[in-house]
Amino acid sequence: MKLEDIKTIAVLGAGTMGHGIAEIAALAGYRVKMRDISEELVKKGYDQISWSLKKLSEKGTISPHKADTTLKLITPLVDLKEAVSDADLVIEAVPEIMSLKLAIFKEIDTLSPPHAILASNTSSLSISELGRVTGRPDKVVGMHFFSPVVRMALVEVIKGEKTSEETMQIITELAKKLGKTPIRVEKDVRGFIVNRLLIGPYLFEAAWLVSRGEATIEEIDSRMKFYENLPMGPFELQDLTGIDVAHNIMKEAGFAIPPLIEQAVKDGRLGRKTGRGFYNYRDGGAQYSREAGQKFDPLPLYALMVNEAAWLIENKVSTAEQIDLACQLGLNFPEGLLRRADKIGLDKLVAELDRLYAKHKDPRYKVNTLLKQMVQAGKTGAAAGEGFYQYHKEQREYQTIRVEIDKKTHVAYVTLNRPQRLNAINSEMRKELPKVFSELRDDPDVRVIVLRGEGGKAFSAGADITEFTQGKPYQFVELGEFFRTPELCPKPVIAAIDGFALGGGLELALACDFRLASKRSEVGQPEIHLGLIPGGGGTQRLLRLVGPARAKELCMLGERISAEQAAQWGLIDRVYENETFEQEVKAFAEKLASRAPVAVRFLKQIMNAGADCSLDAALLLEREAFAVLFTTEDMLEGVNAFLSKKKPEFQGR
Ligand code: COA
Repeated sequence: MKLEDIKTIAVLGAGTMGHGIAEIAALAGYRVKMRDISEELVKKGYDQISWSLKKLSEKGTISPHKADTTLKLITPLVDLKEAVSDADLVIEAVPEIMSLKLAIFKEIDTLSPPHAILASNTSSLSISELGRVTGRPDKVVGMHFFSPVVRMALVEVIKGEKTSEETMQIITELAKKLGKTPIRVEKDVRGFIVNRLLIGPYLFEAAWLVSRGEATIEEIDSRMKFYENLPMGPFELQDLTGIDVAHNIMKEAGFAIPPLIEQAVKDGRLGRKTGRGFYNYRDGGAQYSREAGQKFDPLPLYALMVNEAAWLIENKVSTAEQIDLACQLGLNFPEGLLRRADKIGLDKLVAELDRLYAKHKDPRYKVNTLLKQMVQAGKTGAAAGEGFYQYHKEQREYQTIRVEIDKKTHVAYVTLNRPQRLNAINSEMRKELPKVFSELRDDPDVRVIVLRGEGGKAFSAGADITEFTQGKPYQFVELGEFFRTPELCPKPVIAAIDGFALGGGLELALACDFRLASKRSEVGQPEIHLGLIPGGGGTQRLLRLVGPARAKELCMLGERISAEQAAQWGLIDRVYENETFEQEVKAFAEKLASRAPVAVRFLKQIMNAGADCSLDAALLLEREAFAVLFTTEDMLEGVNAFLSKKKPEFQGR
C-alpha cells in the first residue's frame, strides 16, 4: 500500500481527540467517517467540528467555502461496520481502557478491508498487544496526537513489535499531510517519548518534592515559568489536563503515587474541570511570583528527565534530535531537553542523581548506563565540546563545497560537492576553493586539511568540460593557477581519493601533500582525448613523481590506471580497502594534526621549495627553519614531555 491509496479514514470516537483528528483529516481533503457509540455523542463531536471550522474561517485561516466543503467530507455514524467497511485507515480514539480497545481492534479487524491500516491514538497502552488480537499486526500502528489536535503540531508514530516499516512510513507521511510533525517511536515502550518524560520524571517528581516538604507548589511552578521559560509550571499543567489522567496511567503501570496527588484525587480536586486542583479556580487560579521561583533549584527535575531520555536513546527508541523535537513541540521546552542538559552539564545531572539515590535509595534515581558512560568518557556537555550533541564540529556550506571543522582533532574536511557532475571543477568552485583555503589557513583550530569528493564515485572528474567552449586564452592560464591552491596553503593537505581522480581532479590531488586512495579508485590525465594537455600542473608534477616515461605515458595515452598501479609508480602514497577508507584517512589526518604544527608548516615550505632549488640553498633553508623552531613553545613542550615521559600536547605556538 502507498500513501496515495488512503482515501477514506474512519475515526472511532468523537470525543476531544476523535473529533479533532476527524477535523484535520477532512481539512487535508480526506473522506472521514466519524463514529461514536450514540447519536448524541457523534452529534456533539460533529457540532464541535462545525464550530471549530467556523472559527477558523472567521479568523481567515480558511475560506468559508473551505469550511463548508470540509464539513461535508465528514459523515457522523453510530454503526461500526458502516464506519470501517470501506476505510483505508482506521484511527481509534476511544477511552484509554485496554479491554475496550482490545475488543474494538478485534472487531474492526474483521469489519474493515484487509488492506486497511489500523492505528490507535493511545497515549499509554501497548501497540503490540493491540496488534496481537488482529490478523494483521504488521498494519497496526500507534498514531498519538496531542490535545488540542487542531493546534498541536506533534504526532508520535509508534512501532509495535510486528508493525512493518511500510506501515510506519505511510503513517509518518500521512501525519505530514495532515500538517503535523511526526516523531518516530521505534519501540512500543510505556509512555512512548513525551509522556514517558513528562509524567514520571517531571509531573510526579515535582509532586514528590512537595510531598517531601522540599519545595512548594508556587516555588516550582514559578521557577519553571519565569526562569526556565515554560508556558506554565507542572502543577498548573496537571490542573489543565486533569490530575486523574496522569494518576490513572501511573497507577495502572504500578508506580507509587505521591501523597499530594493521591490526596487531590481522593478529594475530587481533579483540576480546572472540577474548579479545584492544586489551585482554586473559583478564587483566582494559579499563583506565581518571581521571588518564589528563586527559591527552587530545578536540577532534580532535569536530572530525572534526562536520565529517562538517555534510557530512550540507549534502547534505540529514539535519538537525541528527535527527543528534543518532541520536547519542543509536545512540552514547549524552548530549546529541547537534551540541548539544555548539555548546557547544564551532564556531570552535574549525574551527581544530582547520585545524591538523590544515596538519600532515598529509590531505583528511579539510578543513573542510566549510557549517561554514566558519557560522563566517564568526558562527554559532559557543551562546555566539554560534546554531550548529547557535538559542539566541537563546525559546518560551513558553500555552493560547490562543504567544509567541516573538527575543533577537537584540528582536522578540516573540505568536500567538493557537485556529485551529480562527479565533482567536476566549474568556475564557481574555482572561486570558492581558494576562499575556503584562505579561511582555513587563518583558522587557529585547523592544523590539517583533508580534501575529498562527495557522492562516493569521484574525488573529481576534472575541470568542467561544459565550460570549455567559452573563455579567452588568458583565462585558461589563470585557470591553471587555481590548481596550486593546496600547495600554496602552509598547512598540510591530504587528498582523499575515493573513486575517479581525472584531469584537473588528479592535478588538484597532485598539488596536495599526500594522496591516499581507496582500492576502487582510478586516476588519469584524459585531456589528450579532448585535443588538450593537462594545464594545472599535471605534466610537471607527474614528471617529478613518476619519472619521464610514465608521466608521458599517462599524458599521451590518456588512460586511467588503478590506485594500486598508481601506488606502485609512486603517484599515490597509500591504498586502503574501500570499506575502511574513510576511517584510515581520518586516522592519518588526526595523527598528522597531533604533531607540532609550526614545525609541520616549516617542513611543508622548505621541502616544497627545496625540490626546486640548489642543494646548497635548500640546506640553508633547512638550517634556518631548524634554528627558528628553537624559539617556539612547542619545542619546549616536546622536550619537556620527552624528559617527563609524557605525550606532548602541542599548541602551535
Ligand atoms: N565535466 C563536466 N561534466 C562531467 C565531467 C567533467 N569533467 N565528468 C563527468 N561529468 C558529468 C557527465 O557528463 C555526467 O553528466 P550527465 O549525467 O548529465 O550525463 C555525470 O557527470 C556523470 O558522469 P558519467 O560520464 O555519466 O559517469 P560514468 O561513470 O559513465 O563515467 C567518467 C565516469 C569519469 C569516466 C566520465 O564521466 C568521464 O570520462 N569524464 C570526463 C573526464 C575528463 O575528461 N576529465 C578531464 C577534463 S580536463
